[in-house]
Amino acid sequence: MSQVRIAPSMLAADFANLQRDIEMVNNSAADWFHLDVMDGVFVPNISFGMPVIKSMAEHATKTLDVHLMIVDPDRYIDTFAQLGADILTVHLEACTHLHRTVQSIKQAGMKAGVALNPHTPVSALEGIIHELDLVCLMSVNPGFGGQSFIESTYDKVVALRQITDSKKVNTIIEIDGGVTSDNATALVEAGADVLVAGSFVFRSENPTETIASLSKQVNP
Ligand code: DX5
Ligand code: ZN
Repeated sequence: MSQVRIAPSMLAADFANLQRDIEMVNNSAADWFHLDVMDGVFVPNISFGMPVIKSMAEHATKTLDVHLMIVDPDRYIDTFAQLGADILTVHLEACTHLHRTVQSIKQAGMKAGVALNPHTPVSALEGIIHELDLVCLMSVNPGFGGQSFIESTYDKVVALRQITDSKKVNTIIEIDGGVTSDNATALVEAGADVLVAGSFVFRSENPTETIASLSKQVNP
């Protein structure tokens, strides 16, 4: 497995050819599948839910990294575990009792992630970082693929890396939104471990080749 992981976001896949696109990722240099679940309440968009994830899990042969952009995610933690999620990421902004939610995710047998909106400072995680397997820094406002990367993300990656180093934890740092070959190297230099890429992969002429070259770029 590559040191810096690439996680294609299936939100940008062709849903009429979902099996084809899943096989493409299976047979590519990608490391994870990134699955975006949106409820139309926490974010102004609705993506896909349980039946689609169930079908995806039947074909996907790599880690399922599920990003919940939903209010009150505690209601569905066990369901996502049963569906086959390996990593379950909730938004800090959607959780009143984040510590309890994180414990529930781990008790259900999954790795626990917390995502931060662009406006949320990484210092909000100082009290819980030792409990987290992954932090997802949103580099766009969640809700849609294909948006432009927010430049202030670099400083957040550096600040989060300082926190994980000082607390001596191995929490994975994932970047989600507007990732391309133009910002990938700088993100990894700042401290990113996983790059989510939706449009950059699926809107390219040769997605398999795009994944391979992005992976090679960040794992020289
Ligand atoms: C945004 C989603 C992202 C999105 C990334 O709300 O969480 O995962 O699919 O897509 P791109 O790479 O197109 O910004
Ligand atoms: Zn996402």
